[in-house]
Amino acid sequence: MKKLFIKTYGCQMNVYDSDRMTDVLAPLGYVPHHAPEEADMVILNTCHIREKASEKVFSELGRLRQLKERARDQIGRDMMITVAGCVAQAEGAEITKRAPWVDMVVGPQSYHRLPELIAKLDPGARNNVIDTDMPEEVKFDFLPEEVAHRGPAAFLSVQEGCDKFCAFCVVPYTRGAEFSRTVAQIVDETKKLVANGTKEITLLGQNVNAFHGEGPDGKTWGLGRLLHHLAEIEGVDRLRYTTSHPLDMDDELIFAHRDIPALMPYLHLPVQAGSDHVLSAMNRRHTADDYKRIIGRMRDVVPNLALSGDFIVGFPGESDQDFADTLRLVDEVKYASAYSFKYSERPGTPAANAANQVDEDVKSERLASLQQLLDAQQMAFNKQCEKSEMSVLVERKGGRDGQMTGRSPFMQSVYFEGREDQIGQILPMRITEGRQNSLAAEIIAAN
Ligand code: SAH
Ligand code: SF4
Ligand code: F3S
Repeated sequence: MKKLFIKTYGCQMNVYDSDRMTDVLAPLGYVPHHAPEEADMVILNTCHIREKASEKVFSELGRLRQLKERARDQIGRDMMITVAGCVAQAEGAEITKRAPWVDMVVGPQSYHRLPELIAKLDPGARNNVIDTDMPEEVKFDFLPEEVAHRGPAAFLSVQEGCDKFCAFCVVPYTRGAEFSRTVAQIVDETKKLVANGTKEITLLGQNVNAFHGEGPDGKTWGLGRLLHHLAEIEGVDRLRYTTSHPLDMDDELIFAHRDIPALMPYLHLPVQAGSDHVLSAMNRRHTADDYKRIIGRMRDVVPNLALSGDFIVGFPGESDQDFADTLRLVDEVKYASAYSFKYSERPGTPAANAANQVDEDVKSERLASLQQLLDAQQMAFNKQCEKSEMSVLVERKGGRDGQMTGRSPFMQSVYFEGREDQIGQILPMRITEGRQNSLAAEIIAAN
């Protein structure tokens, strides 16, 4: 038995990939382990989306070097270090130059080849292998049939890559062109997850609503159709999907929210900015009004929708007026939760070369005022849940004794008194308190 420690950065697709790397390595005798110290293999599954995310990798590699040396000198054990994910894809050669103690570099589209790469390594010798191909073969066709136990709520990648090329974003370069899995493959994986006790499945894609996979009828299916099909599978109690792009919110998907009870009343739909001028410079290919129209249509179908979004402040050329437009849009639309970031220049993206970069101080000020508004909206949404009843999927133990935690239909974390044997159950609860980042609740006893 060998010990495997994986540290995951970035988005949910990386969380999914980390689980799949665990599946790939299981036949080689690798078993997940909770800490890097005693590990035989450490994988950093990295994110390149913002500068801070990328830089974390190199500081972590510094720490791992010491662990590796200690393992070798003190107990004569070899610790393999692998860098996977989007930094691996973008900076493969740079990594082995800056950190020659790294043994393997593997990109997000080639990790199914990990066993071959390990075989190429000469144990103890100072060689390393890099595989950042975007191979012809599709990794999903080569991943093991076995899917390990993932818990009550699991991710399932249905779509990868992106052809949208927003001017700020590295994803089209690190993940490659848009690609959808077949419906048959997705159904197969869904059934395996459900058989292992999963109740809630979140379908993943960089642009998950651009999904266009081959259906069992040989025709191309969209995400709405796929959701209908998956909802029919026995044991699939809850469905979600993320992340969506406004351009791909079609009628089929909107009406799926009306017609599929298992589809949760939650939508993560990033807009990035509220000014048409900035949206156009970002190459988002929609206006603020287009976005508001989509939200209006979604709310016609799901009146209690929990809306989430992503925002970037300080995109090159963003004026005070442009930023005021973002605040106005947020004020009108009303979010249940959101992520907001300072624009970060990413090498190789069109916006990185723009001359009109915004000052760091200005970005910080704008981020603070946007976050203040978004926090207030989140608090209001959570407060408004007080006294209501909702079903909660019990996921794990909470921080305190006797405390458990789970997810509301609206993606909120819910804390309550419960028992470990309730993990995996969907229980009716009454919300006793709405807080900034969570809800407190009590189980409504069945009588
Ligand atoms: N595919 C998703 C988002 C992927 S990246 C979509 O299209 O919505 C997640 C979020 O990171 C983005 O929505 C954006 O808000 C943020 N982001 C991406 N590139 C960034 C950059 N260069 N600087 C700051 N934030 C960025
Ligand atoms: Fe990046 Fe835009 Fe593609 Fe989202 S749609 S992954 S932000 S390029
Ligand atoms: Fe990061 Fe790659 Fe996801 S850059 S956000 S890990 S697709």
